[in-house]
Amino acid sequence: MEVVIVAGPVEVGAFAAGRIAEIVAAKPEAVLGVATGSSPLETYRALAARRDAGLDLSRVSAFALDEYVGIAHDHPESYHAVVDREVVQPLGLDAARVRVPNGLAADLDAAADDYEAQIAAAGGVDVQLLGIGGNGHIGFNEPTSSLASRTRVKTLAPATREANARFFDSLDQVPMHCLTQGLGTILDAKRALLVAQGASKAHAIAQIVEGPVSSMWPGSVLQLHRHATIVIDEAAASELTLTDYYRYTVEHRGVVQPGA
Ligand code: F6R
Repeated sequence: MEVVIVAGPVEVGAFAAGRIAEIVAAKPEAVLGVATGSSPLETYRALAARRDAGLDLSRVSAFALDEYVGIAHDHPESYHAVVDREVVQPLGLDAARVRVPNGLAADLDAAADDYEAQIAAAGGVDVQLLGIGGNGHIGFNEPTSSLASRTRVKTLAPATREANARFFDSLDQVPMHCLTQGLGTILDAKRALLVAQGASKAHAIAQIVEGPVSSMWPGSVLQLHRHATIVIDEAAASELTLTDYYRYTVEHRGVVQPGA
């Protein structure tokens, strides 16, 4: 696991966008995994700036991590609408290549299986962008989610509904259920890139980076990923123990001495 500590939220977004841009430059038809919520917004802003500077994202495909169940796709807080507003439009993606789980399906289990099949048919996700909940969830894999889980229906934890109430007029309006990629689905992405900013994420970051792999802190499953990068600002890093080591590894990246 690579841990990159930068000054603040803008630098988190700039670093993550740089990583994604490298992948797209090498593979213009890359498959991106996209997250919603506040955490990735600076990354999308930085990617939009790179697009203005010439980065072509028109051939990439994208798969959203999750969607609420029972919310109209044109509701402004549905993840269909959020992905269109925050990702597709500013980055100039081709909407026909962007998928979001169908939380309105009559058969949600079939919709979940179909989503897995669509990801597989696209050749898998090249880079999965992730945020993290204060309780350690990634996607909407709440604590005690199976580490091997696939896309499925989950009940949102009360803490998650409370955190997301800021996007709705009241807590009552926050859906109770979602369709989310599983932890096993996320692990299948070729690269994972988790971004977090602010002190409210510091405890979860410390748990998933330096704690044991445990379904109690679902993001800790990234310790099992071969190419996971955690990009955090100083505040989100404030409960980590090995910060000097993470800074040291970043300083010495790319200067491996033969025989060392
Ligand atoms: C959203 C998602 C969630 C969020 C997490 C953090 O697609 O999968 O895991 O990343 O709830 O949300 P924010 O960034 O709003 O704090």
